[in-house]
Amino acid sequence: MSFLVVLHNLLRWVVLLAGAAAALKAIFGLVGKQSWTPLDNRLGLIFTISFDLQFLLGLILYVAGPTMQAVWGDFGGAMSNSALRFYAVEHIFIMFISLGLAHAGRSLAKKAANDLKKHQRAAIFFTLSLLLIFVGIPWDRPLFRW
Ligand code: HEM
Repeated sequence: MSFLVVLHNLLRWVVLLAGAAAALKAIFGLVGKQSWTPLDNRLGLIFTISFDLQFLLGLILYVAGPTMQAVWGDFGGAMSNSALRFYAVEHIFIMFISLGLAHAGRSLAKKAANDLKKHQRAAIFFTLSLLLIFVGIPWDRPLFRW
């Protein structure tokens, strides 16, 4: 299980980099009135795929990870411990909303009528998703694990 914690720890950087690249490309595309290219599509895809993978790892850790073991032992008691409640409630809730925003951004950008609207939707949804990821990450944990 500690292997999954290491993976979840490190994959965070892939999700953050992919999200930042997808959001920035969309913002520059919008401001510079550029056309929507296969690269824009690919960046959104890499962001959502890495996020999906992180989500899956997170769910496994939620059910069977070391931190949640303490929560499952006494869920009620864990609610009055802010460190445990963070993983039991806040972390999963924030990341769930953020994942929804990332997928909505990708699908709405695909459906948009013109390139400017594609960039606009991707820029708004990917930026909001990325902001929520920043808020939801437990920055008190190690930045890198091996
Ligand atoms: C809904 C999706 C997610 C769930 C259910 C989830 C669940 C968890 C759980 C249970 C832990 C505690 C691991 C343990 O110590 O046992 C954890 C830690 C962590 N999560 Fe998530 N997570 C999710 C999404 C994310 C995302 C999207 C990111 C960042 C992009 C992220 C970053 C982290 C980090 C950095 C840690 C600390 C790992 C460490 O101790 O080194 N999580 N997560």
